[in-house]
Amino acid sequence: MRMILAPSILAADFARLGEAVGQAASAGAEYIHIDVMDGMFVPSISFGMPAIKGIRPCTDKVFDVHMMVEEPGRYAEAMKEAGADLLCVHQEACRHLDRTLSQIRDLGMKAGVALNPSTPVSALDCILEKVDMVLIMTVNPGFGGQKLIPYTLEKVRQLRRRLDSLGLDKDIEVDGGVTLGNASQVLAAGANILVAGSAVFGGDITENAQAFLRKFEEFSR
Ligand code: DX5
Ligand code: ZN
Repeated sequence: MRMILAPSILAADFARLGEAVGQAASAGAEYIHIDVMDGMFVPSISFGMPAIKGIRPCTDKVFDVHMMVEEPGRYAEAMKEAGADLLCVHQEACRHLDRTLSQIRDLGMKAGVALNPSTPVSALDCILEKVDMVLIMTVNPGFGGQKLIPYTLEKVRQLRRRLDSLGLDKDIEVDGGVTLGNASQVLAAGANILVAGSAVFGGDITENAQAFLRKFEEFSR
């Protein structure tokens, strides 16, 4: 499976956000991970459509928008207009998840579903065929810079096994506490898209992103 690095701009310097996005993209990141927080589903508030629209001209890479928002379907159309390519909603935040996923796909975006650490993988059994990507949260959402919770990797393994047994070739993204030190372990569990916030933007962006890409190469050898 294709391995993709998705730097999370939550950890970037907001005073020079466009430049940071451009640097991550030039270094080889295929996705730009954009964390939208509403202050309800998670305690923090991050940014919304105007900020996303503002950085859209900086790159043509995939804008992977992670909606940590209650009833995110309310914003699907506006997110599409702002430049989202992939919209990922939380299973826990959607009363009518099936409908929200259809809405995202009808708008021409890829649809992702995210699971909090305590939500079992089986919660997605009925809708696996309808999603392009599952995001397994490896920390409790809301803040960057936390430590990966080890039991969440077992969920990644379970999900990859489940997808394989159904003959489904879907992306598994992991988000939270991913570092150069645990990247191989995360890939070995079955994830193929790695979100990294502080591990990319905390320091030299180009060097950090390229180090992740080298890990991907090592892993596929
Ligand atoms: C957490 C966010 C993450 C976060 C990751 O709620 O969804 O995307 O920015 O940051 P790090 O990689 O620093 O844990
Ligand atoms: Zn995220």
